[in-house]
Parts: sequence; structure tokens; C-alpha cells
Amino acid sequence: MEMELRRIREAAFRELELAQEVGALNEIRVRVLGKKGDLTAVLRGMGAMDATERPRIGQLVNDLRQEFEAALNERMALLKDAALTKRLEAERIDVTLPGRILERGRRHPLTMALDRIKAVFLQMGFDIEEGPEVESDYYNFEALNLPPDHPARDMQDSFYITEQFLLRTHTSPVQVRTMQAKPPNSPIRMIAPGKVYRRDYDATHSPMFQQVEGLVVGPDIRFSDLKGTLELFCQGIFGDSVKVRFRPSYFPFTEPSAEVDISCVICKGSGCRVCKGTGWLEILGSGMVHPRVLEMSNYDPSQVSGFAFGMGVERIAMLAFGIDDMRLFYENDVRFLRRF
Ligand code: DAH
Repeated sequence: MEMELRRIREAAFRELELAQEVGALNEIRVRVLGKKGDLTAVLRGMGAMDATERPRIGQLVNDLRQEFEAALNERMALLKDAALTKRLEAERIDVTLPGRILERGRRHPLTMALDRIKAVFLQMGFDIEEGPEVESDYYNFEALNLPPDHPARDMQDSFYITEQFLLRTHTSPVQVRTMQAKPPNSPIRMIAPGKVYRRDYDATHSPMFQQVEGLVVGPDIRFSDLKGTLELFCQGIFGDSVKVRFRPSYFPFTEPSAEVDISCVICKGSGCRVCKGTGWLEILGSGMVHPRVLEMSNYDPSQVSGFAFGMGVERIAMLAFGIDDMRLFYENDVRFLRRF
């Protein structure tokens, strides 16, 4: 029996030394220590042994078992280590390679301009409203005092979707929606930024562009409120030294109406190519809300009055940043976008 144990021991340790992989070690473990393994077989055979021999042989089997298990675990650790080292070597990182440059993004100039416009009005206590870009003829024209055959509809070449629906040509319909969503005559102080659409395309017109509408309604809103608010706005965007001029104009939804000019940001008023020698730049339309517009939205012109205005965000951004072609905003040329 002791000879048999010695044979098992020698064979097991030889195999252990030859094994080069973790998988092979596991197989050896099963073959020697497993339920049907060589050592287990010896233990099983002990029943046939002389009773006086049993404890000694049992002890020998256990010693061998422990010795072999320890050796096996050691070899296992060694092989795992070697395998890891091999893998790490294969995946070695070349720290001398040049790094990948992460391009830092930035906000689009139109977003910057719009954020500045919003900030100025938010400081004055305005709310921000929104309306749909696909708008009904009623909100885009009729409720703004532009009945079906009104010639002023031609001022804005529009994209119709059906007889009744079109892409809004301005943000003014949000005036109507805001009033109609409130109880009659409730005070309003809001701006409504958003995209608008017209059939136009050249250096200063894009078929899609952005406007910011404004509406202030209350018990005693006057033209002087309009002037003060828009002067403050112009100074907030173009600086305190900018001069502001109100020029009589016509819009169907305001009476009286005024166009607002600022002193030219390029020549400061002396006359140049940008202001076409006039020293002034037109930046927005405005006026006192027409009584019929109030009435159509359930506001009573004998109780409340209001002023409204509308401006193009692209135009303001062009003037604020000195850009001479509106199409640059939409071409996504990074050489242009990087300048801001
Ligand atoms: N909706 C006008 C346009 O798109 C701009 C405008 C003018 C808006 C006067 C107003 C206003 O609210 O009072 O040309």
C-alpha cells in the first residue's frame, strides 16, 4: 500500500510540473483528489485492510492530500500570474504616442445673441412664452387684424401647408395665444422667442429665421413705457452709449406703430457702408396694441392698453458681432463658428 501511495505521489507531482495551463491543473486536481480520483480510491480500499494498518495509511493519505493540494495551488497561482503578465505585455500602452485633441465646443452665435436678449428682458420682469411653428391662419393673421384680403398679408410671403395652416411668418401669434390663455384683461409682460418662416433667401434673408416678440398689457400702459423699455433693451444689447430713434411706421396689429433704429454700431452715426450712409440701423418693429387686437382676444380696450414689439434675432446678432451675411449662421462652417 505504501508503494502504491508513493507511485501516486510521483505521478501526480510529475504531471504538476508538466502542466502549462490553468485548465490542465484543474484536470490533474480531479484526477488525483476528485471523487473518482487516485487518492480517493485508496481511501475506499481501506476497508479490506488490516485494522491495525488503517490509521497509519489513513494518515499517510491525508498528508499526501494536503501536500499535493498546497503544491497544486502554488502552481496554479504561478500559472495565472504568468498568463496575466503575458496579456498585459500584449496590450502594452505606448505612452509616447501623441494624445488625441479634444475639441472644445461652444455656443452658436445665434444662441449667444438670443440668451443676451432673454437676459435683458428677464431682468425687467418679463415671462417667456412659446407658440407652435405650424400656425393657423387665424392666429397668424386674422386675430392680428389682418383679415383674409388684407393687402398687408403680402408683406410676408408665407409657406402654406393647407388652406388653413401655414408655417408662422412671425412670432406675433403668440401675443394672441397668450392673451386668450388668460382671464380677460389680466396683465401681461412677456417675450416669445421662436423660429419663423418666409419665402426669402439672400444675404440678409433666410427662409427660416428667429424672432423675439414682446407684449406688455395692463391698465395704463403708454407709448412712453414702450419707449423706455425698448431704449433700455437697446442699451442692454449694444451698450449704454447707443442712441435710439423711433420712426413712424405701419403694422396692422399696432396703432400707432414705430420702427426702432439704433445709431450705427460700425460708424457710431457718421455714416458708412453698413448703415448706407444714414448713421442709423433699423432693428425692430413696435407699436401700441391695436384696440381690435385686444378686443378679438377678449381684452377690453377701455380698461387696458398695451405695447408690442418684434425683432429678428439674426439681425441683432449680425449687428452685435459685425457679421455681413446671414447665411453664415446656418452653414455650420467651423471656421466661422470658431470666431465667437
Ligand atoms: N410681426 C412683425 C414682423 O414680423 C414685427 C412686429 C412689428 C411685431 C410690430 C410687433 C409689433 O409685435 O408691434 O415683421
